[in-house]
Amino acid sequence: MVKAVPVFTCTACGAAHKKWAGRCDACGAWNTIEEETPLSAAPAAKSLGAARGHAVPLSDLASAEPEPPRAASGMAELDRVLGGGLVPASAVLVGGDPGIGKSTLLLQAAASFARKGLKCIYISGEEAGAQVRMRARRLGLADAPVHLATETNLRDILTTLDAEKPDLAVIDSIQTMWADQVDSAPGSVSQVRAAAHELTAFAKRRGSAVMLVGHVTKEGQIAGPRVVEHMVDTVLYFEGERGHQFRILRAVKNRFGPADEIGVFEMTGAGLAQVDNPSALFLSDRGEPAPGTAVFAGIEGTRPVLTEIQALVAPSPLGTPRRTVVGLDAGRLSTTLAVLESRCAIPFAGYDVFLNVAGGLKVTEPAADLAVAAALLSAREDTSLSPDCVIFGEISLSGALRPVGQTENRLKEAQKLGFSTAIAPARSKLGAPTGLTVRRMPDLTAFVGDMFGAG
Ligand code: TYD
Ligand code: MG
Repeated sequence: MVKAVPVFTCTACGAAHKKWAGRCDACGAWNTIEEETPLSAAPAAKSLGAARGHAVPLSDLASAEPEPPRAASGMAELDRVLGGGLVPASAVLVGGDPGIGKSTLLLQAAASFARKGLKCIYISGEEAGAQVRMRARRLGLADAPVHLATETNLRDILTTLDAEKPDLAVIDSIQTMWADQVDSAPGSVSQVRAAAHELTAFAKRRGSAVMLVGHVTKEGQIAGPRVVEHMVDTVLYFEGERGHQFRILRAVKNRFGPADEIGVFEMTGAGLAQVDNPSALFLSDRGEPAPGTAVFAGIEGTRPVLTEIQALVAPSPLGTPRRTVVGLDAGRLSTTLAVLESRCAIPFAGYDVFLNVAGGLKVTEPAADLAVAAALLSAREDTSLSPDCVIFGEISLSGALRPVGQTENRLKEAQKLGFSTAIAPARSKLGAPTGLTVRRMPDLTAFVGDMFGAG
């Protein structure tokens, strides 16, 4: 008999190590290596040559199978993020901070699907049945035909699901599931991996869709090995600032639809309400034109979204001035500051810089560069930009402005929300006229001249 040797696994990337170390060689993360007992202490596999397997049937790429029928929940924001509805036999992982509203979202989703005639099972490993029922009452979903169970034993759950053959099974959460053939604590890497593997396999075997809730670590990743994200078909993140009522459901991986699609919700006293016009919502707090703000016409997934970029620039008492960024990439801020300094001779060296996206949205597009530069300049010079102007464009290291995709959609959205001017890179393809005056800038120097010439 082979004795089970302990294995050390990195909780961030899933790499296995022979002994404990402070830093994982594979991904470079610190303090992420944990001891685990392996799944089975099987002897090293013998050469495959002796025992032959079965030949696998091969087919060509032009299969006649129709597109899988998707089920729409009727929650338009959710259906869009899923790529147009829930695909049968797919596994969806929904990650997010504790308390952000994952259980609320999935209970609402299960109820919506159930009301559309799908057989839905909601399994909670975190809350008692009474708690889930209380929430359902609060959300006005008590009459929805959802089957509820509270269980953490994976074997019992799979037996139940195999017998019931639901169209959708919600598992809240993957970290509470406990597979009895794996002897490590629930929530550990091998438990999470085993649970995700078994549940994904169940989805493929029975044609049921499964939605798994996953907690997120301090670093913002779904707790457990990255391999879980590889196992499932779709990974959604539910994000938002705790103090804000806005919640954003973002597809970061989707085998059945576009990634980077977002759905916007608002957390109300009666659950999550859908937000049909996110731009109006993100700009709703705008008051009088103030120095340090610029409206960015962005694209999130397939949808244009306008957001306000806010900057504060203040003389710094520190040797190394502060750079604080919320909702944007800190690296891009450094680049933008460096370009302003070296191409336009506008130094920020003696200043603290704070940058923020209003409403808690995370903007990842390089197209936000020009709006960031505008907010920074406006804050530094203490002059407000024209309030009816939107800005977009990527700044290259030379100081030139690069056109960005979907210009026409950005302009249309701005026009819809009552803006009259747009500042865009000179080489942008404008498409059909939108009624907006577009001021085209070849480079950052021209933009700076325009800003201070006009204002
Ligand atoms: P929950 O779905 O339990 O979060 P998660 O499963 O991600 O941990 O949501 C918890 C928060 O949402 C809680 O702080 C209360 C708030 N909430 C509302 O504001 N309105 C509601 O109708 C519900 C059900 C929850
Ligand atoms: Mg929960």
